[in-house]
Amino acid sequence: MNPVLGVIHGRTSLRRYKDHPISDQDLQTILEATLRAPTAGNMMLYSVLTIKDQTTKDTLSKTCDNQPFIARAPLVLVFLADYQRWFDYYRLSGVEDLRPPDVGDLFLAMDDALIAAQTAVIAAESLGIGTCYIGDIMENYETHRKLLGLPDYVFPAAMLTLGYYPPAYQPKFRERFDQEYIVHSESYRHLGDADLAKMFARLEEDFTPKNKFGAKNMGQFTYARKTGSAFAQEMSRSIRAALQNWPGGAD
Ligand SMILES: Cc1cc2nc3c(=O)[nH]c(=O)nc-3n(C[C@H](O)[C@H](O)[C@H](O)COP(=O)(O)O)c2cc1C
Repeated sequence: MNPVLGVIHGRTSLRRYKDHPISDQDLQTILEATLRAPTAGNMMLYSVLTIKDQTTKDTLSKTCDNQPFIARAPLVLVFLADYQRWFDYYRLSGVEDLRPPDVGDLFLAMDDALIAAQTAVIAAESLGIGTCYIGDIMENYETHRKLLGLPDYVFPAAMLTLGYYPPAYQPKFRERFDQEYIVHSESYRHLGDADLAKMFARLEEDFTPKNKFGAKNMGQFTYARKTGSAFAQEMSRSIRAALQNWPGGAD
């Protein structure tokens, strides 16, 4: 396996960190790699916030669905979908009939921000720095907007916690679904019930009927924990609230 594939296959989400700040040199290396990520039209429709301040990390650990390890990460990076810069520049340039950013612009900026984030993940991993995504940065829009000073056309797409691996750390590799269900040749294959039963069979083996949701199988359990949960609803509310600022985004 070549070194790049070695890094990709060796990565797992890290939620426990060595008690040591990220060196300035390593941070700079990660940021330089991040800024080489592909970006739509070379516009760099994203910004990156580096967060080391303990009070801000403490707040984020609460506002991002109460995940205490966020506060213990030496470094947090927030990847922002950012159309503000270009919109301001268009205005400065005297663009006529300037239309405000719309949902398509937001989605494109989200693409840019996420590609930059994953580039940072791989760069960090190659330096012995583990990472974990925090999707909950998309919740509590108003709170995060105030906390991070976000203008109208900036939306937090993803957050990463970063830190060096702690001593004797044993990574846990979580299984993935088989390729046949995820990769489709030429056109989409809508999975039938028999395929679904096969696809989820291994996951069902891990299911324990004794659970706090009263779920009877893995589908019910996952729905209760994820898609049907309060945090998922809050994420949608947050995104709708943010879209109020993107004309055309909210009816
Ligand atoms: C968009 C996104 C959001 C995530 N949010 C969280 C989170 O809030 N908290 C957390 O502990 N892990 C989070 N994760 C990490 C996933 O749980 C993890 O990637 C998944 O379980 C697979 O494990 P692995 O990364 O170790 O392979 C997130 C991952 C992604 C891609």
